Amino acid sequence: MTSLLITGIGELTTNDEERGAASGDLGRIRDAAVVVEGDRIAWVSAAAEAPAADERFDADGRAVLPGWVDSHTHMVFAGDRTDEFEARMAGEAYAAGGINVTVDATRAASDDELLAGLDRLADEALRGGTTAFETKTGYGLTVEDEVRSARIASTRADSVTFLGAHLVPAGSDADEYVSLVCGEMLEAVAPLVDSIDVFCERGAFDEAQSRRVLEAGRDAGLALRVHGNQLGEGPGVRLAVELGAQSVDHVAFVSSDEIAMLAESWKTDARGTVATVLPACDLSTRMPLAPARDLLDAGAVVAIASNANPGTSYTTSMGFCVATAVLQMRLTVAEAVRAATLGGAIALGLDGEIGRVRVGDRADLQMLDAPSVTHLAYRPGVPLTSAVWQRGQRVV
Ligand code: NIG
Repeated sequence: MTSLLITGIGELTTNDEERGAASGDLGRIRDAAVVVEGDRIAWVSAAAEAPAADERFDADGRAVLPGWVDSHTHMVFAGDRTDEFEARMAGEAYAAGGINVTVDATRAASDDELLAGLDRLADEALRGGTTAFETKTGYGLTVEDEVRSARIASTRADSVTFLGAHLVPAGSDADEYVSLVCGEMLEAVAPLVDSIDVFCERGAFDEAQSRRVLEAGRDAGLALRVHGNQLGEGPGVRLAVELGAQSVDHVAFVSSDEIAMLAESWKTDARGTVATVLPACDLSTRMPLAPARDLLDAGAVVAIASNANPGTSYTTSMGFCVATAVLQMRLTVAEAVRAATLGGAIALGLDGEIGRVRVGDRADLQMLDAPSVTHLAYRPGVPLTSAVWQRGQRVV
C-alpha cells in the first residue's frame, strides 16, 4: 500500500474533539502534516515530527481541511427551469408545483441522460471540494422511475434518500399516492437507499400524510429526513424531532420553541435531529435565511448543505454556502466550516467515517489556495479549492 505525506500545511482543520475541536473551534494545527495510506488517514500532527512516506506533497503553507460533506442534494433529474427562475427574480413566488416540470423531463429522459447529468454535477461538486454527498430520488414519482432514480443515485452518492413523497403527481389522489409511496414504492426502493424523506409543506404533504410516510420508512429500517418549515410555519420540525429523524432540512420558518426542541433533541438522545440550513436555496427563492445563528446559540447541531436542484438552488458550491452562512447568517467561519463538513457527516450518520481529519477516518481532504479557512468568507465567490483527495486519491 502506497503512503503519501502531505506536509507544509499552514493551517490544518481536523474537527477532532481530541485536538480541542468544538462548535466554535476546529481542532486546528499550524505547520501540520498528514500521512495517507490507501484510502485512510494514517498519521496527523506537526510537520516537524512527520514520518517518511513513499510520496510527498508540499502544501507550501496553504490551508487543508476535510472535504465538504453535502448532506442535502437532488442531483438525479433532467431539464432545467431557467424560465421559472427568471420569473421569480421578477417577483413571482416559489411554489412546490414547479417540481412537476422536472418530473416530466426526468421521466422522459434515458438512464444514460440521467447518469450524465448526475456525473456532471458530482464532478462539479468535487472540483469545489465536495468529497461526499447525499442525493435524493423524487423527480420520478412512479415505482419504476423512483427505482431508476435510486439506482442511478447510488452510482455516485455516499448516501441515497427515497423522496417519493416530494409532490403528489399531477392527476393523482393524495391519499392514494401516499399509500403507493408507503407500500409498493417503498418496498421496491428500500434496498437501494438508506433514508426516507418527505416534503412536509403546504402544497405538498400535510402532517398526517408525512407521518404515514416517515413511519413506513422507519418500519422498513430507513433513517428519516424531513423537508420542513421551508415556505412557512408548519409541523415539519416537530414531527422530525418526535420521530427521531436524523435531520430536518430548510428550517427557515422556525419558532423559538422549535429551535429549543431541536437543541433539546441532543440532550435527551445521543443522536438528535440535525438542523440543516440551505443558504443558497434561501437566496434563490428569496425566502428569509434560516436562523442558523439562533440554532447554534440554543445548542442545536447545524449542517450546511447546497440543496443542488434545478428548482430552488441550482448550485453545487459549498464554498458559496459557507461564505453566505458567515456573511449573511452571522456564523463565525469556524462554525460554518464545521457545519459544512462534520455537521453534514452527522446529518448523514457518517461521522465515524468522514468529516474529520483523524487517524483511521477516510482520507477525504481539500486544500485551499489560501493560508486559512477564513479566506472562504473573506474572498467570497473566488474558487479557492486547489487540490482534492477523495479516499486517498488525488482527484483535483
Ligand atoms: O429542497 N422543497 C422541496 N424540494 C426541493 C425543491 C425541488 C424543486 O423545486 O424542484 C428543495 O428545495
